[in-house]
Amino acid sequence: MPFMKQNLAGLEAYKAPYITTGIKLDANENTHPIPQALRDHMREWVDSMLISLYPDTNSIALCEALARNYEVPSDWVVCGVGSDQLIDYLLRAVLKEGDKVLAPGPSFSMYRQSTFINGGQLIEVPLASDFSYDVPAFLEGIRKEQPQLIFICNPNNPTGCALTNEEMERIVTSTSALVIIDEAYGEFLGETAIPLVKKYSNLIVLKTFSKAYSLAGARVGYGVAQAPLITMINKIRPPFNLNIFAQEVALWVITHQEAFAPSIAAIVSERERLIKALKELGLTVYNSKANFLWVETPLALDEILTKEEIFIKKMGYNGKPYFRISIGTPKENTLLINVLKKEARVCAQQA
Ligand SMILES: Cc1ncc(COP(=O)(O)O)c(C=O)c1O
Repeated sequence: MPFMKQNLAGLEAYKAPYITTGIKLDANENTHPIPQALRDHMREWVDSMLISLYPDTNSIALCEALARNYEVPSDWVVCGVGSDQLIDYLLRAVLKEGDKVLAPGPSFSMYRQSTFINGGQLIEVPLASDFSYDVPAFLEGIRKEQPQLIFICNPNNPTGCALTNEEMERIVTSTSALVIIDEAYGEFLGETAIPLVKKYSNLIVLKTFSKAYSLAGARVGYGVAQAPLITMINKIRPPFNLNIFAQEVALWVITHQEAFAPSIAAIVSERERLIKALKELGLTVYNSKANFLWVETPLALDEILTKEEIFIKKMGYNGKPYFRISIGTPKENTLLINVLKKEARVCAQQA
């Protein structure tokens, strides 16, 4: 197409299957039932919803609730249509053609996609051989490449490794570039870098309602940073980005977080059970602080499980196959383990 920007020619559109049946362990969602009180609240809210009016363009009630939650001023918070949207706005606001962006490798695919769309080049600093963060290599990457923007994914998707706040502080203080700490899975780690935002003006922490808080379908993410950084994003953010439904449902969740504590705790304890069970089956499973596991095996795990309507994500890294398996409910995890046990017996018989 003669009118298309040349750099888009080599770019593939993002694809994801829309699966609504079976056991969905491919996208790191919280598969526990959503709290009944949330359903009840939204059912009542529908009767009075102001759908004929534009929504609050600044999602003020939601930003204020988030600000109270993190004890920061409300002009230190911005909401996006998922944290994906905020990733794109940050890159749009910062990058000039050819600018460098540094990220761990492997990490979240949208860092590469959005960097590319916004004219930048993504430089990956490989994780260590056990897929933990290699902090000295990351610091050396920053020194050598002098990137304009740095992503830290904590815990990292797809590997589940995590940094401490001290390690992240070392990274933030090593540069004047913008540092984005993406805490999409932070609730499963149980720590946040948001207190660091008070000390560093080049830092933004991104979080989302899509994972621990079961709202992937509502598309709400947010960023916490000092006011000038938030103002920068607001210059780019289009009016009315969050619809009224999204604002309302996220406001309920942030003001009723305790309703999600049991499912988050169950996922964290199931994570350890699943790691142990998969290791016993001879699979290589890496440590994870998130709600998914990074698994290495020559078996076609995705094919084996899809036959039983259990869906996981097949991924590749350095020419090798890997699988990312979200932690489901105890019942879902048991079904997954049982299918794999059966298959392990079949493999043993065939060997
Ligand atoms: C590390 C990470 N960051 C951000 C996102 C985007 O989440 P959302 O746009 O649903 O808020 C995801 C989603 O998979 C993710 O894994």
